[in-house]
Formats: sequence, C-alpha cells, structure tokens
Amino acid sequence: MMVKTSVLENGCNAKRNGREDCNRMTDDRLNNKKIIVTGASSGIGAQLAKEIAKAGGKPILIARSADKLGELCKTIYRDYQIDCPVYPLDLKSEAAVQSTAEVIFEDNGEINALINNAGAGRFAGIQEFSMGEIEDVFSLNVKALMQMTMLYLNQFSSTQGDGHIINIASQAGKLATPKSAVYAASKHAVLGFSNALRMELAPIGIHLTTVNLGPVNTNFFDNADPSGKYRQSVRRYMLDPHKVAQKIVKNLFKKKREINLPWWMEAASRMHGIAPRFLETMLKKQFNKK
Ligand SMILES: NC(=O)c1ccc[n+]([C@@H]2O[C@H](COP(=O)([O-])OP(=O)(O)OC[C@H]3O[C@@H](n4cnc5c(N)ncnc54)[C@H](OP(=O)(O)O)[C@@H]3O)[C@@H](O)[C@H]2O)c1
Repeated sequence: MMVKTSVLENGCNAKRNGREDCNRMTDDRLNNKKIIVTGASSGIGAQLAKEIAKAGGKPILIARSADKLGELCKTIYRDYQIDCPVYPLDLKSEAAVQSTAEVIFEDNGEINALINNAGAGRFAGIQEFSMGEIEDVFSLNVKALMQMTMLYLNQFSSTQGDGHIINIASQAGKLATPKSAVYAASKHAVLGFSNALRMELAPIGIHLTTVNLGPVNTNFFDNADPSGKYRQSVRRYMLDPHKVAQKIVKNLFKKKREINLPWWMEAASRMHGIAPRFLETMLKKQFNKK
C-alpha cells in the first residue's frame, strides 16, 4: 500500500510569516536517500523512521500493522513534509517478502540503505517453548533478515556500490543469560551472519553495522515479558528508543562496525569473552532477573 502525498519542490510547506514551515534539519548524508526500515510500526523502528525523515531522508516502512504505518506516515508528512511509502508485510512469509521487494524496487527505484530492525522474542525457560514458537522467532529475527539482506544487496551492488545495511541485533547476541536461550540464539545468529557479511561486502563498498542494545523501553516487552517482572527490574537503566534511533541515524552511511548501548553492558560482554565463568559467577543475581 502506498500512502501518497505531494511534496513541494523544496520539500517544505509554503512560507509562513516569511519562513519555511519545515521542522527538517537536512543532512547531506541522508538528503533524498531511500532507506528501508523493517518493524517501523512501533518502538525503535518508528523512531528511526522519524529521525530519517527529520534529516531529509525518505524512510520506506515495513511491518504488519497497516494502520499504524499509515498513521506514522501521516505524522512524518505533517512534521517533515516527507512522503514515506508503506508496505504492510509479514516478514515471516518468504513469498510475501520476495514479491513485496519487487514492488518496492518498481515503486522507488534505487534503494540506498536497509535497516533490518523487526524482531521479537519471549523470555522463558526452554521447556516452555514449542518447536513452532522457536521456528517463528528464527523466521523473523534471522531468516527474514537474511532474505531482506540478500534481496536488497543485489539492488545496492547493481545500482551504486555504496549502500549501507544496519542489522539490529542485541546485547543478548553477545552475552546470553537464563531464560533468553531462544532469543539470544537468534541474535547470536544475526551477529554471526553480519560479521561474515561485513567482510564479504567491504570490497564492493557496502557497509554493514550491527546494533547491540540492552533493554529499550518499547512494546517488545509486551511479548517478551508479559508478567512485567523483568521490565520492572530493569526500569532504571532502560534505554530511550528515541535516543537509540538518533544514535543509529547519526551513523547512517558511515563506516561504523557496531553500535553498543549502554556502554557498560558492552564492557560486561567483553569481559565475558575473556573470563566467562568468573563473570557468570560475579553477575549471577543480575543475570537471573528474567
Ligand atoms: N526493546 C528492547 O529491549 C530491545 C533490546 C535489544 C534489541 N532489540 C531489538 O530491537 C528491534 C526492534 O524492537 P523494539 O524494541 O522496537 O520492539 P517493538 O516495539 O515490539 O517493535 C517490533 C517491530 O517489529 C514488527 N514486527 C514484528 N513481527 C513482524 C513480522 N512478522 N513481520 C513484520 N514486522 C514485524 C512490529 O510491527 P507489527 O506488529 O506491526 O508487525 C514492530 O514494528 C528488534 O529486533 C529487537 O529484537 C530490542
């Protein structure tokens, strides 16, 4: 579905009191760049879409909730006078991902960046999972991310050779903790895939950045932690999705290997790499908050 509104030539509304009515702070790096954001209907993805538009880029929005995407699109046009096409899509459907990609290329032409942000998971002991649920987590967090990357890579390399892929992983992809076995495994897979691909893509001028986050205050926890117990216990240091999005957008089209937030979780992951048993003993109480 395309939500279309016309953009004035300079991208802003007509002059009001002699000044352009435009909240945008156009950044040359992003100006007129077409950037696909998956999982754009809420949380980090919705904030990313806004930040991209604020900097003069054109976010192309993907998620399942057509109504939420439509609303976001209207808000973005109202605030930044940027048209953003929306493509409601269940990323777990391989056929739908393929056919939507064809429509996106036809509608938008050259794509400049892809942010694989959609993802989900549930914090629970492994015996509480069915194989179907495990398959669902991997289908969205890993398989869809790989399929999107493959489809859009072909487009980057044939058009410009300077694309950027940003994969939203997690600190759970670096350091697994109890009750996160399935989610952590999926995010470890994202990091493994991304680390290999980054080296494959470097010679053709395509950058790949991974984003590893600690808890972020979004709807993610509605599914991950329905009891609200974990959310409550980490409330003090939950990241703000808007600040996370600002940091990511600041690094679009830059050769940044990883974005890690908060810094002290990254420090713990590094220490875990050196002395896992020591850290698991030291931080046992912290690790068992789920
Ligand atoms: N929040 C955290 O604490 C945290 C920490 C580390 C990493 N992350 C990662 O950050 C990313 C964004 O999560 P968030 O915190 O912003 O959570 P969120 O608010 O729940 O957003 C998830 C997004 O993914 C979309 N989505 C879910 N299933 C989908 C499907 N089958 N097809 C298409 N889109 C789908 C959702 O939209 P629809 O429901 O409309 O489809 C929504 O837009 C995820 O990859 C998550 O693993 C989050």
